[in-house]
Amino acid sequence: MARLKVGVLISGRGSNMAALIDAARAPDYPAEIACVVSNRAAAEGLATARAAGIPTEIVALSAHADRAAADRAMTAVLARHGVQLVALAGFMRILSSDFPAHWAGRIVNIHPSLLPAFKGLDVQRQAIEAGARVSGCTVHFVTAELDAGPIVAQAAVPVLAGDTPATLAARILRQEHRLYPLAIRWIAERRVRIEGGRTLVDGVPPGATLLFSPDA
Ligand code: GAR
Repeated sequence: MARLKVGVLISGRGSNMAALIDAARAPDYPAEIACVVSNRAAAEGLATARAAGIPTEIVALSAHADRAAADRAMTAVLARHGVQLVALAGFMRILSSDFPAHWAGRIVNIHPSLLPAFKGLDVQRQAIEAGARVSGCTVHFVTAELDAGPIVAQAAVPVLAGDTPATLAARILRQEHRLYPLAIRWIAERRVRIEGGRTLVDGVPPGATLLFSPDA
């Protein structure tokens, strides 16, 4: 089967993007990274993508009349690269509702909490301040609602006494780098079905789409 063409959207460091690029180097990985798009020319991840020989594009909000126009430009860029699945990877600009509608069922995000807990920004601090004993990361389909949408997979990590937002973020990030390539593998293998706001992964029992990661 042809490899699924993934377009990765970044705004900054791009470590999740790098994890996807690394995964796609394996000949048996069912997806390839067709392009990397950033809303910021200064995103550090762009250099990583270029070094890996991946086409990069910049679609800045400031170059367009409004959010919707910038999003249409992004869709045009992604289409030009033949993208079949959009993967948000630390893409920190709010999308207009038309964008997830256009890509419905073909756009995923990774978020550094166990959704639906802790949406929005600074979520590791939110988890610590709530006294959560466990946090983690979530790969989910993107809908118009921020940090919502059918969950594909999650990884859990402990929240330890003495954690700062930075130490917890680092522990979660290590799991993000495992989880995102795994979830995109399942999608590329056409094994993920969305049913009534939930997902089912063919051949994977629901419990096995949660990775427990007590590796602190
Ligand atoms: C990651 O932790 C990702 O989950 C988070 O931003 C970081 C990006 O790091 N995304 C969000 O908070 C989106 N709501 P990276 O650029 O190194 O992949």
